[in-house]
This record gives sequence, C-alpha cells and structure tokens, in this order.
Amino acid sequence: MSFPDTVQIVEVSPRDGLQNETKLLATDIKVELIKQLATTGLKTIEATSFVSQKWIPQLADASEVFDAIKNIPNINFPVLVPNEAGMGQALHAGAKSIAVFTAASNTFCQKNTNCTLDESLKRITKIMDLAKKNKITVRGYISCTLGCPYEGEIPFTKTAEIAKELFEMGCYQISLGDTIGVGTPFRAKKLIDAVVKQIPITHIAAHFHDTYGQALANIYAVLEQGVRVFDASVSGLGGCPYAKGASGNVATEDVIYMLNGMGISTGIDLEKIVAVSNFIANALGRSPTSKVALAMLAN
Ligand code: HMG
Ligand code: MG
Repeated sequence: MSFPDTVQIVEVSPRDGLQNETKLLATDIKVELIKQLATTGLKTIEATSFVSQKWIPQLADASEVFDAIKNIPNINFPVLVPNEAGMGQALHAGAKSIAVFTAASNTFCQKNTNCTLDESLKRITKIMDLAKKNKITVRGYISCTLGCPYEGEIPFTKTAEIAKELFEMGCYQISLGDTIGVGTPFRAKKLIDAVVKQIPITHIAAHFHDTYGQALANIYAVLEQGVRVFDASVSGLGGCPYAKGASGNVATEDVIYMLNGMGISTGIDLEKIVAVSNFIANALGRSPTSKVALAMLAN
C-alpha cells in the first residue's frame, strides 16, 4: 500500500455544482464564486458549460461568466461541451481547455444528451477534430460507471472500452463518474482495475458523488490503487438533473480535510475553501451541508 505526497483536485462546483440548482443565480455570484475559488490554491476549476439553455437553464450565461474569469492567471478553466455547437461557443468565448462527456449507459446518454452512446462518441470525435485544430486540451467524462439510474450496474469492461476510445481520441485525462453516488470501495477498486487494463492510471481521475455517503471511502480506496486526480465541489454542490436521484459531489472541503490528515498535499487552503463553501451556500439560501464546513464554521 502506498500513498502519494500530492494529489490534484479538479473543482467542479461552478459547473456540476450549479447545474443542478433550480434557484437561478445572478451572473455576478457565479463570477464571484470562481474568483474566490481562484484564491484558494486550486489549479483547475471547471468554469461552466456550453450546453443547451433549454436543458440547463442555470448555465445560460456561460459566455458572460467565462468572459469575466478567463484572464485570471495560472489556472486551467475547462468548460463542458456536448456537441459542435457548444464547441463553437467555447472557442468564441476563448476557452483553452474543454471537457467532453458520455456515459457507460446508453439510456443515460439518451436522457442527458438526447442521443445514443454511439452517437455521443461520434459527436465527441467531431469536437476532438475542432479541439486539435485549435490546440485545445480535452478532458473526458464517463458517467454512470458505478451504476445507472435507468440500467443499474453496467459491466466495468464497458467503461474500460469507452475510456480507451476517449484516450485514443486524444483526451488527456478520463474522469470516471459515479453520477448517482451508489459506488462502494471494493466496486470502485474493481472499476479502476478494469480501466487500467486499457489506459495508464496516470490518465485516470475519479468523480464521486456522495449520495450514499461513500465518496471519501471510495477516494481512499482508489488512492491506494494509484489514482491521483479527484473531482470535488465546494459545499458538496452538484448533481445532474437528468440522473434521477443524483445528489451532490463529494465536498472539496471534506476531501482536503481527509488528505491533510493523511499528510497528502493539495496546495489548497482549507480555511479559504470553507469560506467559499459558506459564500455559495448562503447565495443559494442555505448553510453548507458538508460536515467539515459545519464543524469549522462552528469553531
Ligand atoms: P437537443 O435538444 O437534441 O439539441 O439537445 P438539438 O441539436 O436538436 O438542438 C435543439 C436546440 O438546442 C436548437 O435551438 C439548438 O440550436 C440548440 P433552437 O433551434 O430550438 O432554438 N443547441 C444548443 N444551444 C446551446 N448550446 C449548445 C447547443 N446545442 C444545440 N451546445 C444537447 C442536445 C446535447 C444540446 C442537450 O441534450 C444538452 O445540452 N444536454 C446537456 C445536458 C447536461 O448538461 N447535463 C449535465 C452535464 S453531464 C454531468 O453532469 C455528468 C458529469 O458531471 C460526470 C458525472 O457526474 O457522471 C460530467
Ligand atoms: Mg457529476
């Protein structure tokens, strides 16, 4: 068993976090969220998504948000892109880095993007062509890797095949999503075992949602296997409106507290993260829900 000295956190609250919120936030609040996150030591912050505003009304102001933050130095701000139209908007906005997404489950693909799994890979091929022409780096997400709200468990070999395809298309990193947070540690390990047969572990990230309170245990489990990049969201915000039962991502503050305690550095200031968690929760009309934020704010 070996643990690393450092781990990378990809902050997804401005995109995955906000997309599931029904209370529409002002653009200024989203910009302020990203600006505050940018002071915490985070190096990658997924800023927004260029998806259809009919499908995700909360992120209809993607261009305005991106325009306001794109010149913050030394931070990678990927934006989520579903198709060529979204890629066109991302390029126009000046994005240097994007994320594409598909799923291990065909039904989830249909519900989330109105196309089959095969069609989603064809869309990604077209996005990749544009990305290569414009020297844009691309991260790939695979959803429902530990369970689908419509199809249940999907064979890990299916996720592994898709990961290989995305990697061969040119995605520099593949983020394995437990979209509805049903995973548990031994299954999370089996998923990684399957995927590392197809792509190097150094190109795998893990994206756990905390619906059943398993996310930290899953992170610990796959850390043991060598995964070194974890997606997280301040205040545990997040979920996908097209994944029935999906709730928040693992809270960034919970992950950093655990890693700090294990002597694993992220370069991120926990107190600052908790302050951002409090800011965005209050903007949404509530208190932070993560245990770490609640405990630190009470002291
Ligand atoms: P569609 O309705 O099939 O699209 O949606 P269409 O191509 O038929 O076009 C319909 C209308 O949408 C047209 O406008 C297009 O111009 C417009 P109209 O003529 O009706 O006025 N349109 C767009 N507008 C803005 N941006 C675009 C765009 N494309 C078309 N990019 C589509 C297909 C893919 C667009 C839609 O299904 C969509 O936007 N889906 C995204 C849903 C989403 O964002 N889900 C959450 C992200 S994934 C996730 O959360 C999981 C993840 O976190 C990992 C995990 O947890 O597992 C990544
Ligand atoms: Mg997600």
